[in-house]
Amino acid sequence: MAWRTPKVFITRNQIYDAVQRLAEEIRRDYWTAPPLLLSTLKGSFMFLADLVRVLDLPVEIAFVRLSSYGGGTVSSGQIEVVQDLSEDIHDKAVLVIEDIIDSGRTVGFLHAYLAPRAPASVRVCTLLDKPQRRQVPVTIDYCGFTIPDVFVVGYGLDWNEQYRHLPDICVLEP
Ligand code: PRP
Repeated sequence: MAWRTPKVFITRNQIYDAVQRLAEEIRRDYWTAPPLLLSTLKGSFMFLADLVRVLDLPVEIAFVRLSSYGGGTVSSGQIEVVQDLSEDIHDKAVLVIEDIIDSGRTVGFLHAYLAPRAPASVRVCTLLDKPQRRQVPVTIDYCGFTIPDVFVVGYGLDWNEQYRHLPDICVLEP
């Protein structure tokens, strides 16, 4: 598919400020018992890397790779576990790190996926929330930005596996 010109929608400086604010909120809530950060790949890799460096908490880090979009811009609705969680999360405070919550299906799926592993708690931190597209209700505990129904790429988010490397969050020009 052809490359389309990305237009900056949320700047790297705005992202930086949001990451600082989120880290402060998370630190305030977890300073006595640091959480296990569960990053949903691939989209959240950049957010996790920035967040963990300013968090200043001795967190554990784990990954699960889920996929819902295929190659398109609209979620297929089917969540697939591409790479399983390998860590034991029993009795641990899990903080899910998401890049974006759109339909809510991924986070809904994650709650069901984690429950049998008996974590002490599961909270959700997302950089972006797109509430207009919600199909499944989700509780978001920490949120960077609430955005309208636009397709965004960059800072980990892709379109057809492109644009993840961009340091800003962008929309695609036609
Ligand atoms: C994206 C994104 C979220 C999910 C949100 O992942 O990273 O995990 O979709 O959408 P939802 O709220 O509608 O479920 P995707 O499945 O595109 O995989 P990726 O992270 O590898 O890009």
